[in-house]
Amino acid sequence: MVNLDWDKLKFEYQPVKSNLRYNYSNGQWDEGKLYTTYDVTLNVASNVLHYGQAIFEGLKAFQCVDGKVRIFRPQANAKRLNASASRLLMPTFPEEMFVEAVRKVVADNIEYVPPYGTGGALYIRPVMYGTTPQIGVSPASDFQLVFIVVPVGAYYKGGIKPVDACVSTDFDRAAPLGTGMIKCAGNYASSLLPGKIAKEKFHCPVALFFDPKTHEYVDEFSTSNFLAITADGTYITPASQSILPSITNDSLLTVAADLGIKVERRPIHRSELPGLAEVAACGTAVVLTPVARIFDGDQVYIYGDEIGPVLKKLYDTMTGIQSAQLPDTHNWLVDVL
Ligand code: PLP
Ligand code: COI
Repeated sequence: MVNLDWDKLKFEYQPVKSNLRYNYSNGQWDEGKLYTTYDVTLNVASNVLHYGQAIFEGLKAFQCVDGKVRIFRPQANAKRLNASASRLLMPTFPEEMFVEAVRKVVADNIEYVPPYGTGGALYIRPVMYGTTPQIGVSPASDFQLVFIVVPVGAYYKGGIKPVDACVSTDFDRAAPLGTGMIKCAGNYASSLLPGKIAKEKFHCPVALFFDPKTHEYVDEFSTSNFLAITADGTYITPASQSILPSITNDSLLTVAADLGIKVERRPIHRSELPGLAEVAACGTAVVLTPVARIFDGDQVYIYGDEIGPVLKKLYDTMTGIQSAQLPDTHNWLVDVL
């Protein structure tokens, strides 16, 4: 085990032992290789630098209560990576190879998995980009897929302490390419300005986006999906074509249904915001982060400075499954070794 201050980990880059790289050329992927350097050599005419042909994923490995390290739903990330790849005319990567790659890179960096009980995890970030030098707008024919791993703690400081959010007026973040449903580089670059405005002007760590077409319905946060508990105890989350299909949200919806909570995936009109009982952001990085207040123009909706009872139950159940304290009834965990 390496000597890190496990309880103080943030969500930030730090080098570890290795990363795992695959190259694609002449229509096929190579067998992959572990590297200890983080540098890559790119021709400056590489398609990714000009036209942003790049996608990525995010998933976590946890040290469980029995000391074993397990990965949470890697097959779901493999599927979403391939959906993103197809949309951006990039090659898909076989699902079994993806799961094996994740197991291999986690195994090689096993000493960096935060110990059970610290609340940390090993974050796995696969990133794929086009490397062919070209100047015309067309898809690359050569690609690299690199799996890096980073030990991480809470994304928003405070863990499950509620954070403030602010409605962004940059409605078109995901609209220009219609790429809301995929996880790609450009989407996040265009969310940087609304994120900066949320932080600097409204002192909110996170921006909430409305739908790009009507600006009337809740879409998602800049880092995560939106979910809420209504006054009658229903779990609601937006049905939208312009949000990322979150694996965490999908898992929480399943957990909620298992717990007997009514769940609804449906459009959520902004007029519903003031009446919601509990609100949260969810995603691999943010886990389930409750929202204390939403600033919407000159209005403020208040949900409270402590996590609400339904969200707490969902959080405890989800993290209980991830750390193998609770049974993995949906077979979400994959052993590393
Ligand atoms: N929405 C956005 C914009 C995200 O960046 C993320 C995280 O990647 C999510 C939602 C949550 O997705 P997941 O739960 O698969 O991490
Ligand atoms: C993730 O949750 O995996 C993400 O990629 C979100 C990002 C804001 C770090």
